[in-house]
Amino acid sequence: MMKIITIAADKGGTGKTTTTLSVAGEVSLRGRRCLIVDFDPQGQCAVALGLTQESGVFNLLVNTTFDARQWIRPTGREGLDIIPGDRMTATAQIVINAENRGIDTIRKLLNPLKAEYDYIFLDTAPSVGGIQERAIFAADLVLIPSATEFMSTNGLGQTMDLLTTLQSKHNWPGKLLGILPTFFDEQTSESKTTLDELKRNFGDAVLPPIHRATILREAPAEGKIVYELDPQHRATREYYALSQHLIKYS
Ligand SMILES: Nc1ncnc2c1ncn2[C@@H]1O[C@H](COP(=O)(O)OP(=O)(O)OP(=O)(O)O)[C@@H](O)[C@H]1O
Ligand SMILES: [Mg+2]
Repeated sequence: MMKIITIAADKGGTGKTTTTLSVAGEVSLRGRRCLIVDFDPQGQCAVALGLTQESGVFNLLVNTTFDARQWIRPTGREGLDIIPGDRMTATAQIVINAENRGIDTIRKLLNPLKAEYDYIFLDTAPSVGGIQERAIFAADLVLIPSATEFMSTNGLGQTMDLLTTLQSKHNWPGKLLGILPTFFDEQTSESKTTLDELKRNFGDAVLPPIHRATILREAPAEGKIVYELDPQHRATREYYALSQHLIKYS
């Protein structure tokens, strides 16, 4: 059964794109057929994989008479494809809102890909509503990266509330995979305090943290996924553990 995993947060720069790329990559290495769909108008996924940006997501959302398969591109890695995005995605967002498209828009558009992939990963922009809401509704599992920095837990409320609303108002059948603490640095009390606070507020939903690591900044600049730079790095191992958790959970 194909699973859709949406990576979302209402704050920017929490590690959503890094997590999408690293987990999708690790899962594809384990023999699962994976597709990344980049719903962020920044279109960073393609570039981070060494590819060029394209209006794939815009076309997916607006030119709906075409089969979704039309917009899929290979990444040059076995079992890992992408529907790239670019700033035209922002225009698609306006169209979706103007046409008042249903909450199930994205779910329906991805449905024809069910036979082709084991996992589809949806990277989203830091926002609430519009595309993000529909990308979460499309998800079987939602992963929320949250930076272990002061005030960062404030940004979690809206996304968590959205999950509850989608469940109660729209019978959304999906679940929270977990809250992923990112940029963790045990040298700082800020990181420890924030992680404790996350655990106090969200209990078992809090996943093992991803440490702050320079390699995660370097990898996208070289068009590589973290394990392609260093398969033994702690960051690689941490994202490997997360991918194993996902495979077990789904
Ligand atoms: N654990 C980490 N340690 C160090 N740097 C990281 C880590 N995770 C991500 N980064 C870097 O921090 C920046 C922001 O990360 P990323 O782009 O993944 O966040 P995002 O949530 O997708 O941001 P946006 O909201 O803009 O889409 C990037 O330069 C990325 O390479
Ligand atoms: Mg991003």
